[in-house]
Amino acid sequence: MTKLNSKSHTTDISNVLVIGSGGAGLRAAIEAKLCGLRVSIFGKRPKRDVHTILAAGGVNAAFGNVDADDSWKQHFADTYLEGYSIGDPSIIEIMAKEAPELVTEIDSWGANLEKLKDGRFDQRFFGAHTFRRTCYSGDYTGRSLINALLNKTKELKIPIFDSQYVTDLLVSEKVCFGVMSFNIHTGERTVHFADAVVLATGGHTRLWRKSSSRKGENTADGYYLALKAGCKLIDMEMVQFHPTGMVKPEEYAGTLVTEAVRGEGGRLLNSHGERFMSKYDPERMELSTRDRVAIANYREIMEGRGTKNGGVYLDISHLEKSLILKKLPRIYREFLNTQMLDITKEPMEVSPTAHYSMGGVFVTPEEHSTGISGLFAAGEVAGGLHGANRLGGNSLAEILVFGKRSGRSAAFYSMKQELHSRSQLVIRNAHENIDRFINSGKENPMFLFHSLRNVMWNYCGVVRNETDLLRGLNEVRSLKGLIRDLDIRIASEGCDDLIQALDLEASIFSAEATLISALERRESKGAHQRSDYSQMNSDTINYLVFLENNNELRLSSYKHSQLLDEDIMQTLSQTKEVKSLKGKLIE
Ligand code: FUM
Repeated sequence: MTKLNSKSHTTDISNVLVIGSGGAGLRAAIEAKLCGLRVSIFGKRPKRDVHTILAAGGVNAAFGNVDADDSWKQHFADTYLEGYSIGDPSIIEIMAKEAPELVTEIDSWGANLEKLKDGRFDQRFFGAHTFRRTCYSGDYTGRSLINALLNKTKELKIPIFDSQYVTDLLVSEKVCFGVMSFNIHTGERTVHFADAVVLATGGHTRLWRKSSSRKGENTADGYYLALKAGCKLIDMEMVQFHPTGMVKPEEYAGTLVTEAVRGEGGRLLNSHGERFMSKYDPERMELSTRDRVAIANYREIMEGRGTKNGGVYLDISHLEKSLILKKLPRIYREFLNTQMLDITKEPMEVSPTAHYSMGGVFVTPEEHSTGISGLFAAGEVAGGLHGANRLGGNSLAEILVFGKRSGRSAAFYSMKQELHSRSQLVIRNAHENIDRFINSGKENPMFLFHSLRNVMWNYCGVVRNETDLLRGLNEVRSLKGLIRDLDIRIASEGCDDLIQALDLEASIFSAEATLISALERRESKGAHQRSDYSQMNSDTINYLVFLENNNELRLSSYKHSQLLDEDIMQTLSQTKEVKSLKGKLIE
């Protein structure tokens, strides 16, 4: 561990460096490599165990294979309207148009998506889609996509360094020229020069006590890297609570129970045996939008109609066992492994879990550039697509479409570079940024992270109010003050404490960004529900958060431009009419 000495680092050079080895990162790297460039991928998790493998139920693309009337315009309309019209229409349009090509491509790389008898992709129902448009491999679609992407990166000989923790983007005069990282096993530091960097680091939902992310995943590191580099974050208050996380045992609480269970016919029941979705969305029942199903589950539990373990029931036992084993093999196993529960015979217990960050780095629609030259962002770390509610299956579509686009943008940017800016001062600061943590103080980062997760769950959860949000903000700011006095034991713990400390700092800043945005949005819209402002505003404002020179977070407002061609406007208004008539849309 002597290499944690700040005087020592190795250097390396890429045209395009991708941070994050999940689906968006791999797809970006593949595209940059196909442009003929030198590309590297840095990740902090083993490459076959990235967060994308947990994305279970499917990837959306409007092929119209099962429901012939589907179209990219309908996919656009569903995504935009069910996101409560605050998603960026240009980003949504690109995703809806390009998803079919990207899904076809990844299947040809070995994703092995389920097919109909005639060889076209099968498509299943996912919540709030007008048609069946979710392509899938059982309930392990994310894993299938990662396997296919890894095959491709291997074929293209793209190096994946999956033990690198990136501590800083190297930015001088608003130009990104590389990253500082260290090896999580040896502590060895690398200054990696790059013409362009793609951030694909995921979101921040591990900050909530119940989360579908595992330890060390989605700890907001990408948001903090972006903030420090001078980027803005958008829609940080929009955190998706998936309605169905596991309730027990304690160490598995929050683990995702895929929406595919409901897509295949699963029913939600309260402790009185009532199929309660009939009260909340009688038309769509369990396949309503995620925000509505999550709130319904939350209310049933809070109003005393939950199970004694604090959940509601999700029952699929009325279906044929053979169908369950074919379509939901991993969920079947998960409940056997963790509870010895046979879901073909007995209901599961589920409750809401923090699942997806709909906000993130503010990017341009076409290139996914960030406002810092040479820095691009894609996947969950980027904001703008989902608005106030993400449709299930859109995240896997997003990582393919914008992974590719950001990789291409980074490659084109690199090819245009004539001068390579570098700054020794910025590199020295990045070293100091690591050194300042190596300290024997009084506070344990693990303990502070645990406190932070409780704060976010208790004060910024499924339903919020001003008093709780302010309390949360105060507590988060007190935690921020304690970061200066962390106890980091390199000799006995290697880099583990240091990683915890860096994750903690990123998490605290991102928690603060979430809380200030949540306080500012004085209405209930989609995933952002306020008991003190239960009505929804008709305006379509977004909030941006950025870091000022004095290290304080600031907030501003923003509106996406709504330039839509007539054709789309027509689909949009027809869909709005149909959904409103059937009570599907809250206006
Ligand atoms: O429920 C699920 O399978 C999750 C899918 C998604 O978040 O897109």
